[in-house]
Amino acid sequence: MAEPKKLMRALAGETLETPPIWMMRQAGRYLPEYRATRAQAGDFLSLCYNPELAAEVTLQPIRRYGFDAAILFADILLIPQALGADLWFVTGEGPRLSTITGTDDFAKLKGASDVHEHLAPVYETVKILSKELPSETALIGFAGAPWTVATYMIAGRGTPDQGPAHALKAEDRATFEALIDLLTDATIEYLSMQIDAGAEVVKIFDSWAGSLKAEDFQKYALEPAKKITQALKARHPNVPVIAFPREAGDGYIGFANATGADCVAIDNSVEADWAAKHVQSDGCVQGNLAPGHMVTGGQALIDETKRIVKAFSGGPHIFNLGHGITPDANPENVQLMIDTVRS
Ligand code: CP3
Repeated sequence: MAEPKKLMRALAGETLETPPIWMMRQAGRYLPEYRATRAQAGDFLSLCYNPELAAEVTLQPIRRYGFDAAILFADILLIPQALGADLWFVTGEGPRLSTITGTDDFAKLKGASDVHEHLAPVYETVKILSKELPSETALIGFAGAPWTVATYMIAGRGTPDQGPAHALKAEDRATFEALIDLLTDATIEYLSMQIDAGAEVVKIFDSWAGSLKAEDFQKYALEPAKKITQALKARHPNVPVIAFPREAGDGYIGFANATGADCVAIDNSVEADWAAKHVQSDGCVQGNLAPGHMVTGGQALIDETKRIVKAFSGGPHIFNLGHGITPDANPENVQLMIDTVRS
């Protein structure tokens, strides 16, 4: 039997001497080798749908830094595209999609089990990675959470306050809930196929969970995460799930127990000491260095990294940023963070 991977040990609840480490958006524009492969692919979406090149960019940060986990290179907006939405990226601005303004737009979407043909290249990327990754590196698959994906589908773009999605929820709740249900089912299908292809862990990104309050948070962030986790556990009982209800604040408390997730990822708006006390008490946590330290570096990076490692040292912890690394980050600061965590 091979040694269990460090990431899998933390997810199983083990408290390790030094935490495993990986980074959200670790394959990204801050790396010159990523920019070169992306140019070779032509554009971002062509890169996502090219299994050889998507596997290559996934492997780049593993070769450079030796992270404990690789995350599949893809995007949370491939699911809307697989459901029939138009998707394109505007350089320097971000994603654009056809919009969902009511029941007529919703009716044009495909069904949850129709996504696989479109997403086949993603499954192929996972297969390549499961062969090519070093034996100590865990492979993480992922999808967007239904609410976060719905915010992009409804507005047709990223929005500062998710206003259009909140408006549809208020004005046409039946269509809104039908969309959440469709995305929940499609996400189960999608993640299950990633697991069949070789993903060892899956992560659900709910980047905009923080704009759901009170009962809405329960119904549209927690409930879908629970449905997805439970359906996956029924099919793949040994595959851990990481939930990331970003900016959930007090909503992080009890989220793992309520959904069945094995780990909750914490953003950097939350104090590590607070999260250790109120969230890590339920099991593994991931996080939560502010991504800005990857730009600024220096002693502040070292001090803050040490503070977070120490705060979470009493329980299972995966070191990560509180959100994705930004294109202006300095690759040397990433090495400094890793050296600090592992020393
Ligand atoms: O983490 C990883 O390295 C794995 C790959 C990954 C990407 N996007 C690649 C990507 C993952 C896990 C995502 C998740 C994702 N995508 C989220 C949830 C996490 C988060 O950041 O909150 C969201 C909201 C998206 C949607 C999305 N994709 C946006 C809003 C943008 C444009 C903003 C930007 O950073 O340019 C993207 C593009 C994107 N996805 C890039 C990468 C590396 C940059 C595209 C490029 O190369 O030009």
